[in-house]
Amino acid sequence: MNFKVTTDKISNIKSDLEIILIIKKDFEHTFVQDAKVLKKSGFSANHEESYLLANKNRLYVGSESIKSTDVRSAIAVALREFKGKGFQSAKIGTYMSHPKCTAVLRGMVEGIVLGNYSFDTYKSKKNTKELKNITISLEEYHNFELDLESCKRAVVNAKISAEATNYTRTIVNTPPDDCYPETLAKMAKKMAKKSTLECNILGVKELKKEKMNTLLAVARASRHAPRVIHLSHKPENPKAIVSIVGKGLTYDSGGLSLKPADYMVTMKADKSGGAAVMGIMKAIAQMNIPIEVHGFVGAVENMIGGDAYKPDDVLVAKNGKTIEVRNTDAEGRLVLADVLCYAQQEVKADYIFDMATLTGACVVGVGHYTSGVMGNSKMPVDMVLNASNKISGEMATKLDFNRYLGKTLKSDIADLSNISNTRYGGAVTAGMFLSEFIDEDHKNCWAHIDIAGPAFVEHAWGENPSGASGAGVRMMLRLIEKLSRGDGHS
Ligand code: BES
Ligand code: ZN
Ligand code: ZN
Repeated sequence: MNFKVTTDKISNIKSDLEIILIIKKDFEHTFVQDAKVLKKSGFSANHEESYLLANKNRLYVGSESIKSTDVRSAIAVALREFKGKGFQSAKIGTYMSHPKCTAVLRGMVEGIVLGNYSFDTYKSKKNTKELKNITISLEEYHNFELDLESCKRAVVNAKISAEATNYTRTIVNTPPDDCYPETLAKMAKKMAKKSTLECNILGVKELKKEKMNTLLAVARASRHAPRVIHLSHKPENPKAIVSIVGKGLTYDSGGLSLKPADYMVTMKADKSGGAAVMGIMKAIAQMNIPIEVHGFVGAVENMIGGDAYKPDDVLVAKNGKTIEVRNTDAEGRLVLADVLCYAQQEVKADYIFDMATLTGACVVGVGHYTSGVMGNSKMPVDMVLNASNKISGEMATKLDFNRYLGKTLKSDIADLSNISNTRYGGAVTAGMFLSEFIDEDHKNCWAHIDIAGPAFVEHAWGENPSGASGAGVRMMLRLIEKLSRGDGHS
């Protein structure tokens, strides 16, 4: 999709479609062209309500407020609804309430790119008339002049971050036999070749050498060998170093603790954390952010077979801790344990985050719209919460660790068990399991993000179509962008 930012008057711009945003409370009080027709047809500018005035090619979009989080979802929903109607170009005004407040602009552009996404790789009939060209008019709207440069920058970054989200969505949506660990490794290499990123891939030989035995155990029964992917963005004189680790289970059958049929469908999405890391790294390189960022993906398939790892096995993780396997479906934490150790060995980071579709319990606890954020200390958790809820439009909430839940991971025969002995608090116990693999140096700068809820969408909501949402990409990009401006903690 191409975006053009211009100071031309909106009425002078030629396009197939004009997108007009109406703020709910303004609909009654301020002048809105076509108000009569809109009211007559029942349009009342409710949030995410839209109306296509076909004879004038105007798409009216209702939004609760002018906040970027509202604008993003309102526009995305409208575009999704009118996708495939043949519009190839559109124009839109800016609606900025302050000359420096480019947030709305960013929400708008992200809404357009995210709303226009569809996964049609496997459809015989593809939509050929896609929305391609968007013109944004900076025509004076609030009696102040907009700074063209900062507007252009906001549009570019919004486009990069939404396109990276779409890239992640496509990885996640791709079926497990077309997207397995080697596929992800190839994609990472290709990405590095086309950009300034460095890429290092670990295959079975290297994983053995690195003593990543818990990851290898999970991977053993699959015909697709595992990979660990390390992508890095290394600018000169970076302001900080950030590592992001993603769970990349290209399929999670549950292993010998096999999932029931109904629970197994959609488990192609168990690679969402890893796919998010790939999207984030792509965007970071394109934005050329002055932060050193390392992305690690543990790409593994959890299957059954004669050589599958078993409940009752005891595994030795990379850091030497022994783990009694009591459920092979709690495999994500085993993979992450080793990849977290590897990431900390390779990079002494100022911040380390991991993203994973780790537990069904997190979805039960906070609902399927929200990610659960955990850690040993408040600072990195707050960084994630601020970047997500306030600006990226992704929802996230804090889940607290406590010493009593920690004790439920004890094992009689090993250092710890891979599942808790209580059925409650599963998201927290999984997070506390991971904390066993965070070393002293990183203890207070690590946060774990359980994206099991929002990563895969059953019924479209907001800017997310049904299927993969690309959860984690926008929130993490905003966090890193904030760090680069020196206001990461605020
Ligand atoms: N990948 C699943 C978690 C999951 C569930 C993600 C639903 C997305 C939607 C994970 O590997 C898993 O199976 N976890 C188990 C842990 C249990 C065995 C302690 C779970 O949540 O049931
Ligand atoms: Zn599982
Ligand atoms: Zn899993």
